[in-house]
Amino acid sequence: MRRLLVAGNWKMNTVRKTAEALASGVASGAKPHLATVDVLVCPPFPYLVPVAAALAGSGVSLGAQNVWHEPKGAFTGETSADMLLDAGCSHVLIGHSERRHVLREPDDLINRKVRAAIGKGLHAVLCVGELPDERSSGRTQAVLDRQMESGLAGVEAGDFGKLTIAYEPVWAIGTGVTATPEQAQQAHDHLRKWVAARYNPEVAKALRILYGGSVTAKDAKNLFEQADVDGGLVGGASLEAEKFVPIIEAAAAVTASGK
Ligand code: 13P
Repeated sequence: MRRLLVAGNWKMNTVRKTAEALASGVASGAKPHLATVDVLVCPPFPYLVPVAAALAGSGVSLGAQNVWHEPKGAFTGETSADMLLDAGCSHVLIGHSERRHVLREPDDLINRKVRAAIGKGLHAVLCVGELPDERSSGRTQAVLDRQMESGLAGVEAGDFGKLTIAYEPVWAIGTGVTATPEQAQQAHDHLRKWVAARYNPEVAKALRILYGGSVTAKDAKNLFEQADVDGGLVGGASLEAEKFVPIIEAAAAVTASGK
């Protein structure tokens, strides 16, 4: 069975002191639940090392929000997979909608990053999701198919142990408009079927697919109860332990109820 994963994407928030305090708060709040639920936090680059120290021995995983695909060299401002591993990361977010749409990252660059991360042993969290007009014009599944096909080009079935998909509809990110559990389930089911057809049913069954987009403690349980929703990628509500820990608790409750 797939364990639920609750991940926090801190985006460009916190300073060192608040990052350390948030990490400590998450670590202590998550502690009673780590036997059944996985927890990940993704702070900004400058705070990876202090947050790694704050999380040491806690069982909460550390991820970065981005990576560059080349191993080293003249890439001003970029960070390699080896650097992330050295800083204590096990995970990295790739293809987040803010990088796709604000920073204009193209599909082929996202694919290079996925392959580089997996190749170095980092766990890649590939984010996919449609824009508002893509949904309203009935193109959601076509967009997801394109992002999966291009994002996973060259990724083999044997690599899937190092891969998580995050479905993050762009219209739900930072808007307070959460996808309904039915909308999330429909998209996740489509993504899992895509993987089953493109790879094989075993790989599809084992793959974790997270939902992201205005997740709060209020709706987490209903989302996590969906058959193909394997946890959440949380933005705004991951910035305070008091808001994030209840989402972990919701995941633990759903797991305890037999999902
Ligand atoms: P919000 O939870 O703030 O909508 O952000 C979601 C997100 O983009 C997580 O990666």
